[in-house]
Amino acid sequence: MIRILFVCLGNICRSPLAEGIFRYHAHRIGLREGMTADLHIDSAGTGNWHVGAPPDPRSIQVAAKHGIDIASLRARQVTAADFHDFDYVLGMDRDNVKALAALRPETSATQLDLLLSFATRTPVREVPDPYFYRDAAGFERVYNIIETGVTGLLDHLQATHFSSRQRNG
Ligand code: 4NP
Repeated sequence: MIRILFVCLGNICRSPLAEGIFRYHAHRIGLREGMTADLHIDSAGTGNWHVGAPPDPRSIQVAAKHGIDIASLRARQVTAADFHDFDYVLGMDRDNVKALAALRPETSATQLDLLLSFATRTPVREVPDPYFYRDAAGFERVYNIIETGVTGLLDHLQATHFSSRQRNG
């Protein structure tokens, strides 16, 4: 099983979207989720301000517009233990990756990287923080950037871990 953790600052705008979009596409191509299945998927924030809170209403709304329900997700803060519990820890921007690198135990073999290091169709490498955006258009843009990273990540996982599977979508 491959375990993937998406991380942003608050775990209410970007990483819950990444979790939901990744889950949607993974299920669509037949990968199963759960402790005995193909994937374990989660998200967290480097900060603790929003622990226990649902995603930002603008993230819930843009996900719903694309047929994805993230309303039941709840924010949590990333921990050092996550570096033993997950194979991939993927930050949305370079500040996230910097904070994660500082938290990472020396004994961890986890791959720590930017989500967009897996994006092949764009040179963009950071998901911008939309928290202070004033309109929904910014969240739509963030949705599309995240989707590019998530589909690139799925292609990578299929090639490296699930290569016997047929991609059908
Ligand atoms: P996120 O967005 O990191 O994508 O969840 C933010 C959410 C909250 C704050 C900053 C960014 N905040 O400062 O409370």
